Amino acid sequence: MQSLEVLHWWTSSGEQQSATVLKQRLAERNLLWVDYPVRGGGGDSAMAVLKARVIDGSPPGAAQIIGPDIQHWAQLGFLSPLHHAQLDDTSLFYPVVNELIRVQGQAVAIPLSIHRINWMWLNPSVFEQLDIPLPTTWSQLESSAPVLRAAGIIPLAHGNEPWQNATLFEIVLLSQSGASFYRQFFIDRDESALTDPAIVAAFEQLRTLKTLMDPHINQREWQQASRLVADGEAAVQIMGDWVKGEFSAWGLVPGEDYLCLPVPGTNEQHLYSIDTFVMFLDEPNAVPMPTFIDTLLSPDLQRDFSLAKGTIPARKDVPVTTFDDCSRASHHVFGQASQSGMLAPSIAHSMAMSPESEDAVFEIVHRFFNDERMTPELAAIQLAQTLRALK
Ligand code: BGC
Repeated sequence: MQSLEVLHWWTSSGEQQSATVLKQRLAERNLLWVDYPVRGGGGDSAMAVLKARVIDGSPPGAAQIIGPDIQHWAQLGFLSPLHHAQLDDTSLFYPVVNELIRVQGQAVAIPLSIHRINWMWLNPSVFEQLDIPLPTTWSQLESSAPVLRAAGIIPLAHGNEPWQNATLFEIVLLSQSGASFYRQFFIDRDESALTDPAIVAAFEQLRTLKTLMDPHINQREWQQASRLVADGEAAVQIMGDWVKGEFSAWGLVPGEDYLCLPVPGTNEQHLYSIDTFVMFLDEPNAVPMPTFIDTLLSPDLQRDFSLAKGTIPARKDVPVTTFDDCSRASHHVFGQASQSGMLAPSIAHSMAMSPESEDAVFEIVHRFFNDERMTPELAAIQLAQTLRALK
């Protein structure tokens, strides 16, 4: 059996279960997936480890690298060009997927699935028992907090990690200002957007959301926050749909044990993160293993993997009829948003910025989140200065 070492950051129960779908399918085709997992949601630790291994001259055979970073690795000459008829067929993928995986038309990454990040995950029995309406606005969520707290329930489950705070910040900005402003601010960095009061408002809302959290947010991983919602100790978590993968791994049923609602004001918007794998060149003329590419691209694998992961398939032609309502909504909205300009690439999940810019955003948002003396105005000025300087 051939073997292939794969570096990734899928270490929660749901993530591991979805990785198992890949491992099994590859094993059926005589390719052994040698696991190299690096703990840490969002993949920042995984990327640090990957860089260290490459500098050391011992890259893995394949790795989860996502977003425009794929292009940087390819331009530095580390990635293997991937030759596969279906990968070459751009009509099988959404335009944003095609942009990420190709360098001058040559595919260098295999797209697997697409996450939607602007979701709220709710425990329905908490809302039923306390007779609280499901929140569709921020103020509804805020006004339910005293009732929830009186019943000993945390209104908003969260973990105080830089990437979780950045995820919440980008979601809030999208919710308050829309996808086009989001892109003008984070990507185009238009002067009018950088100095817009909307940024101050987003920081203010982030601080308000912090008042809905409990005192034990430090060192809490995202899946521990999901556990609080599942157990009815918390009412809501705001997070990408890898949470659904986690709930599935725990045997929870969507629509019964938990609900998904788009974050207020983002019904038609899709804040996305796309999971992709690259292969490293061992020798300049080595041929990358076709079985790996072929298996990851197969429609059945893409369906089964997404069912476990909480995502939608990266291939446009894979039917989602057997998926739950949350994923079908994600699929519908992604298709619509691709046409209508309502797509927003996640900054927190490396979809649109250089790692340097991303680190700078994380640093400012995390400092603001943790230092109550830092005003929203100051945070907005610092963020604008940084984005301007790194443009
Ligand atoms: C990835 C997901 C992963 C999540 C949490 C995101 O950046 O796209 O695949 O489940 O981080 O680790």
